Amino acid sequence: MRRFLILALPLALGTSAAVLAGCGQIGGPKYAGQPTEQARSMQAMLADVNQIRAFTYGSGDLPAARAAADDLVVWSNRMAELFPPNQASVDYVDMSPERAKNAPAAMQRTALALQQAFAKGDRGVIGQRLATVEKDGCGFCHRSH
Ligand code: HEC
Repeated sequence: MRRFLILALPLALGTSAAVLAGCGQIGGPKYAGQPTEQARSMQAMLADVNQIRAFTYGSGDLPAARAAADDLVVWSNRMAELFPPNQASVDYVDMSPERAKNAPAAMQRTALALQQAFAKGDRGVIGQRLATVEKDGCGFCHRSH
């Protein structure tokens, strides 16, 4: 029933070695022992998605889910800054320039639609919008084809 396909998503991005090499921060004192802002953004967005999913499954509460949707929009608005299209297609092996260019807008659009669903608070609609976020937002980058 519960789908955790998201957890497998980073694997679609290629080897972590390639990802790290692309960042050019290995051994950099500034980042030693700390996750990058990029990784932090992903962990925060994953936590938001899980929070909202809990609500759609009947466990989490509405205010927490709504706060998570708001947070997801804030992070989505930063995708182009955190993964600049020109750079992301170089840094990440399977991110084509076209995908990198269109991904931030897809993430923003789907996250915004999800946030708007909270105005009515309909669990079913929120669940659908969440699925769209995962498929067309997160999935825009996290897919292997
Ligand atoms: C703009 C493209 C893009 C979008 C959109 C995107 N991701 Fe990512 N994601 C990445 C990249 C690139 C990495 C590797 C980040 C790094 O350098 O650490 C990553 C890494 C991750 C990781 C591993 C983080 C870690 O601990 O290193 C998770 C989990 C993740 N993404 C989940 C998500 C979820 C959930 C969404 C949607 C809410 C999402 N991503 C949307 C590009 C994207």
